[in-house]
Amino acid sequence: MSGHGPAIPMTSRPCGPLKGEAHVPGDKSISHRSLILGALSVGETRIEGLLEGDDVLATAEAMRAFGAEVEHLGPGEWRVNGVGVGGFAEPEDVIDCGNAGTGVRLIMGCMATTGITATFTGDASLRSRPMGRVTDPIALFGAASYGRDGGRLPMSVVGAADPVPVRYTVPMPSAQVKSAVLLAGLNAPGQTVVIEQEATRDHTERMLAGFGAEITVEDTDEGRVITLTGQPELKPQDIVVPRDPSSAAFPVCAALIVPGSDVLVPNIGLNPTRAGLFDTLRDMGANLTYENLREEGGEPVADLRARYSPDMHGIEVPPARAASMIDEYPILSVVAANATGQTVMRGVKELRVKESDRIEAMASGLRANGVNVEDGDDWWIVTGMGAGKVPGGGTAVSHLDHRIAMSFLCLGMAAQNPVSVDDGGPIATSFPIFEPLMTGLGAQLVRANR
Ligand code: S3P
Repeated sequence: MSGHGPAIPMTSRPCGPLKGEAHVPGDKSISHRSLILGALSVGETRIEGLLEGDDVLATAEAMRAFGAEVEHLGPGEWRVNGVGVGGFAEPEDVIDCGNAGTGVRLIMGCMATTGITATFTGDASLRSRPMGRVTDPIALFGAASYGRDGGRLPMSVVGAADPVPVRYTVPMPSAQVKSAVLLAGLNAPGQTVVIEQEATRDHTERMLAGFGAEITVEDTDEGRVITLTGQPELKPQDIVVPRDPSSAAFPVCAALIVPGSDVLVPNIGLNPTRAGLFDTLRDMGANLTYENLREEGGEPVADLRARYSPDMHGIEVPPARAASMIDEYPILSVVAANATGQTVMRGVKELRVKESDRIEAMASGLRANGVNVEDGDDWWIVTGMGAGKVPGGGTAVSHLDHRIAMSFLCLGMAAQNPVSVDDGGPIATSFPIFEPLMTGLGAQLVRANR
């Protein structure tokens, strides 16, 4: 798990129109949380539409290691028999979370208030990412952690046998950190309060309420104040995982830049904490419409229709929107390269600590394909070349980052020359059917260097 095997070089050739329906997989954030909350409930949770990507499969394996029964019933269909809040058993071996920052951070949170010890590792990307953002708050509950220099994995967490509840202001906009603290708070007595200054994806709050926890959210001058009452008995649920807007972003954006395209991406969740990219694309002049807008499980859902949009223009992306589209900046920069004028992205420091340094990875790959990019600590600017004017012809390094690999393959679909990535293997972490889905629409992807 802690690596995906030999690199898979891939090339995307300029292609004709993308046409048809793109049924993207289940939401990665909700898939992780479904398994974890299922494992923390008493009884049987049923999940439909689970994303069966490597990241989520690692979380399923981890839940087994902590004592839950996790069974794969059929495509996307899973059953979890939980051990209840505070019921985690000590794993016999190291927990390998692969590439998944969400997996490892949320699971560290869950076990931090249980009197057990667990050791976590992951692939080279995950081992380079900061864990201090989680180990700092879990220390307040009474947990100790011992990791490598810079708070990096491998790391052992010694959970607090006698946890105390905490009040914690999350210092960076991070749903993973917020969620880790809330999950730790589940097994602490009394009320745990988490404050976030910028709203981030709220799946943990919504799902905890759905599983029967007492949780309130209040918008105050301090920020979003989330109060969780500890030691509830979580009730098992039947969950239908919505399709992932972060995966939908790829066929949507590819359709906007490939001449003649018209693609329908059905059943996409438009939770406002996730949908910032679609607003941004519309602000840039994209022909992107929401069809059949409806509500499902309390969340807005629509079928997205994206048509070739040769007249898109660069904009200054509102920094306040960053958290709601944090995973979508790589593919946005590909659209920006095909628009006219500059697209300015500020307030995006968090991009530097994702699966890769996403500003650096995109900037160097775009430059290698003839696009001008300037960047600084927490900003970057892409100078658009206009529709169909990106030269292409370069190879980008994916740095074990699925979204970097998929973004450059989309760039190649609309460039003047093929675009290659050194390794498309990481795509399997979040979007295992990317290749057949995109080629089914008309993309020309091959597993080889140009
Ligand atoms: C996620 C939160 C985000 C996002 C990640 C999924 C989650 O990370 O980038 O892909 O499911 O909570 P941060 O919390 O680090 O911003």
